[in-house]
Amino acid sequence: MTDTVLVVDFGAQYARLIARRVREAHVYSEIVSSSITVDEIRARRPKGIIFSGGPKSVYESPAPTIDPAVYDLGVPILGLCYGAQLMALQLGGTVTKTGRGEYGRTELTLTGSSPLCVDWPVTSEVWMSHGDAITEPPPGFTATASSPDAPIAAMHDPDRHLYATQFHPEVVHTERGSEVFERFLLDVCGCLPSWTHMSIIEQQVAAVREQVGDQRVLCALSGGVDSAVAAALVHKAIGDQLVCVFVDTGLMRSGEADQVEDTFRRQFKIDLIHVKAADRYFSALAGVTDPERKRKIIGELFIRIFEEVARDLGAGEGSGDEGPKFLVQGTLYPDVIESGSGTAANIKSHHNVGGLPDDLAFDLIEPLRLLFKDEVRAVGEELGLPHDIVWRQPFPGPGLGVRIIGDVTPERAEILRNADAVLVEEIRRAGLYRELWQSFAVMPAVRTVGVMGDGRTYAYPIVIRAVTSDDAMTADWARLPYDLVERIASRIINEVDGVNRVALDVTSKPPGTIEWE
Ligand code: XMP
Repeated sequence: MTDTVLVVDFGAQYARLIARRVREAHVYSEIVSSSITVDEIRARRPKGIIFSGGPKSVYESPAPTIDPAVYDLGVPILGLCYGAQLMALQLGGTVTKTGRGEYGRTELTLTGSSPLCVDWPVTSEVWMSHGDAITEPPPGFTATASSPDAPIAAMHDPDRHLYATQFHPEVVHTERGSEVFERFLLDVCGCLPSWTHMSIIEQQVAAVREQVGDQRVLCALSGGVDSAVAAALVHKAIGDQLVCVFVDTGLMRSGEADQVEDTFRRQFKIDLIHVKAADRYFSALAGVTDPERKRKIIGELFIRIFEEVARDLGAGEGSGDEGPKFLVQGTLYPDVIESGSGTAANIKSHHNVGGLPDDLAFDLIEPLRLLFKDEVRAVGEELGLPHDIVWRQPFPGPGLGVRIIGDVTPERAEILRNADAVLVEEIRRAGLYRELWQSFAVMPAVRTVGVMGDGRTYAYPIVIRAVTSDDAMTADWARLPYDLVERIASRIINEVDGVNRVALDVTSKPPGTIEWE
């Protein structure tokens, strides 16, 4: 049984980062809403609880809060920033609107000893982001640190196992932040650091075996990291009961289909059905320019093809064998958290290749649903998947279909694929591929006039889109070095027939989205 630590989410994105830091200390963490009841907490038997920060002031109304009975559970609690102030307020301390907040790097001075800051120098650098400050600790608490504008920057009541810091240990700018988690998790909570990539694999392999028995399982491969890792994991569990399907839509990146064949059929010896469906996709998309209609057409055709494959795998109607009963999906933990909150706006209808509709008659196997992306990659490496797949940048389900702005034709897809291959090759050569969230080519399907040699050209422009991001919710346009931009541009124009102009997209998200459609 793995030790579990609950991270209570008081808003914004802080909780995710905290949950990841806990897992980096090899302890399993789960994010829960602040509306969780004490009975629900007790039922999950956590070894520790961490309160996240949040964007509100504890004096705002409404501001998120938690049932104060949580303090009587006897489970160690670590409150961070907003979580620290809430703990102070609920237990009878004072939180004051001092009018002098701290934002960014701040000097922390230890004023007492704390089991969370063992062997720290008297001063160190931490990251702060607060308007209000704790000015009086609750009865039973001792202040253990201060900063210029936070008289109580850390406090604790060791008898009740309650700890709080005004600073953010989860942020990399807090010099010794990871130690705060390690000390809390291992020393205060007594967790075993047993959440490792090997243990994740073992647990999931056992779970899949138990769920599936001797039934057959179907998995859609997209060329992306999630479906690849999910397939490799399920294959480890049940071997040739797994059948993988790769639908080549004609809208994939350069070399993607070959790599899927190479990896899964040749290396892993997985039973792979490669459906070459480009013609069907191009005819279904002919004349369609509306982005949402494109997505819908691509998604629906995928489902139709998938159903055909599944049916063909059965022994036929009336035989009692209707084909595989189970379907693998590469759902990740952030998707699980997001669908739980129900607040994310549907800006684009995200057709995921795994995102099949509910009425398909499959039971789902989701071996990655507890994992963050970095854990999925680590598991992928452990399972022996090639680096190229494990570290591949995200790619939208509808593929190049939403990167050709206008009518999607085979000719345009080929031009875009070739331009994209040049761009990605140069980005890799410059050592930037992993650093960037995504870097790809877009084709606005208009034509512009140019001159090459002695002749006038009338051809497509290609746009370079490169962004940095942590989670795709927001993104910044990447400041690529100019000489790299120039190399990409001249190589695309020289090497890709049908292109005579290259532009650079300098839009962040918001207001843009990462993809153009
Ligand atoms: P946007 O363009 O909304 O994209 O900023 C955010 C992230 O999602 C990817 N994306 C998709 N992924 N199906 C997917 O599986 C889709 O339809 C889709 N549209 C966008 C995009 O590449 C980026 O990483």
